[in-house]
Amino acid sequence: MNRGSIAGRGLCYPRIWQCSSRKRIIAPMLLALCILTFIFCIKALRTFIIPTDYIARSRMSFHSKMTLKKVLDSGAGNEVHEDIKSDDYLRRQYFIKYTELKQRQLLTAYPEKSSCLEEKSPAVPCYDTTCTTPLSRDQNYSINSLLSTTHHARMTMLNPLQDLTANLKYTHVTIVAASSQNHFLEVQGMIKSLHENIFPKFKNISFYFYDMGLTRHQLFQLQEYCRCKVINFPFHLMPGAVSNIRCFTWKPLIVHAHLPKTDILIWADASVRFTSPENDDLFNDVMNKGLLGGLPDRFFRPVAHNTALQMFQYFQIEPCSVAQFQEVEANFLAFQNQPFIRDLIVETWAACALDPNCMCPEGTLNMHHCDYNVRKYAKCHRFDQSTMNLIMLKLFQENYSSFSFSQKYYAIKRSNKVNYFDFLDEKENLRANKSKNV
Ligand SMILES: *[C@@H]1O[C@H](CO)[C@@H](O)[C@H](O)[C@H]1NC(C)=O
Ligand SMILES: *[C@@H]1O[C@H](CO)[C@@H](O)[C@H](O)[C@H]1NC(C)=O
Ligand SMILES: *[C@@H]1O[C@H](CO)[C@@H](O)[C@H](O)[C@H]1NC(C)=O
Ligand SMILES: *[C@@H]1O[C@H](CO)[C@@H](O)[C@H](O)[C@H]1NC(C)=O
Repeated sequence: MNRGSIAGRGLCYPRIWQCSSRKRIIAPMLLALCILTFIFCIKALRTFIIPTDYIARSRMSFHSKMTLKKVLDSGAGNEVHEDIKSDDYLRRQYFIKYTELKQRQLLTAYPEKSSCLEEKSPAVPCYDTTCTTPLSRDQNYSINSLLSTTHHARMTMLNPLQDLTANLKYTHVTIVAASSQNHFLEVQGMIKSLHENIFPKFKNISFYFYDMGLTRHQLFQLQEYCRCKVINFPFHLMPGAVSNIRCFTWKPLIVHAHLPKTDILIWADASVRFTSPENDDLFNDVMNKGLLGGLPDRFFRPVAHNTALQMFQYFQIEPCSVAQFQEVEANFLAFQNQPFIRDLIVETWAACALDPNCMCPEGTLNMHHCDYNVRKYAKCHRFDQSTMNLIMLKLFQENYSSFSFSQKYYAIKRSNKVNYFDFLDEKENLRANKSKNV
């Protein structure tokens, strides 16, 4: 007998099994209690002691290791693991897209503008002939500059909405929209036009609506009549500096979260009115170009005026170098779910939203108002829209207008209030009363 050994004395289990039946029950219970306490302690430690951004970062690195790799066949039979967030991969996607657009003759030239010396109107785009730092037209320089200025933001980015969309059904077309209390009547006009002009014509569409702070009655009506899935926007998950609704950071984040779940994603502001399409030209247009935004004839608003200086500095662009460019509007946007758009354009757009120095830097929250009677660079800021414009200008310069579409697919009606839900409510009541009376 080796009773003196550590094993024999230290491990009491064999002896317990020989004990009375009461002790036999107590010992495993104590063990289970110990394990549970241990698990509880670890959880408490994670929640209260380890900072949440540490958890986010370790989740991020786990995420990028496990899922953001694509296995490519190198041809020699060896597997090459490619990180779909890496700069090399993104650079390649840019050149692939550029070549494809060129070969298919989908690039267009931006109309000539007069010089700012000749231009009489104060707030329309014009060439700044005094600008000594022109926008580079070198493709290598353009993509490298975008990748390096946004590298950190892209690498550390974690979209707080990702979990909300993880299990959604994949559909051909997805329409996303959002509204707060004060745009609720305007957005009903958008929903009505969607019900009347799009839903009857096309199948395989999903419609998601973000509640950005509706009243209980509004939310009730929306759920009753919108024919959409309503999602409560999780403001509490947004990092402090960019959680303000007037930062518009939520728009890129919503698009970024939903794009992987659809072939075509359409963003529609409350002011959008879908017109009745003859056919599916809109969808074909998006599938050709990858991304479409509005470049309306109504306004000729210069990107250089309507973008804050901090954002210009962030992207290393001089305002005078883009003085001739008109803003692409972000009230109606269409995206194709393909690598260049998803992994480079939308990823960078969303990364900028979450970077406190990019989309909504300090001091920009009082820059919503643009005075169209003065000619001045960086006099106001358009947040999500400014970001999208700088990204596309950096990559395509004069050819950025290739990504705009005519407004035949939609109209913009600002402050156009439509009492669609009350109308449906009354109809419903009438029907109910009738059936009651019968
Ligand atoms: C790109 O834009 C430039 C400047 O407007 C123009 O000269 C060029 O033809 C455009 N490229 C194509 C392929 O249309
Ligand atoms: C970009 O750089 C690559 C090598 O890094 C070179 O082969 C290519 O010609 C360059 N393209 C342009 C447009 O300068
Ligand atoms: C809907 O569209 C998706 C993506 O194009 C496709 O995979 C799916 O089969 C479609 N479903 C129906 C019911 O047509
Ligand atoms: C239907 O009946 C309810 C009471 O049951 C009434 O309040 C409502 O006004 C009626 N609606 C219409 C449209 O007649």
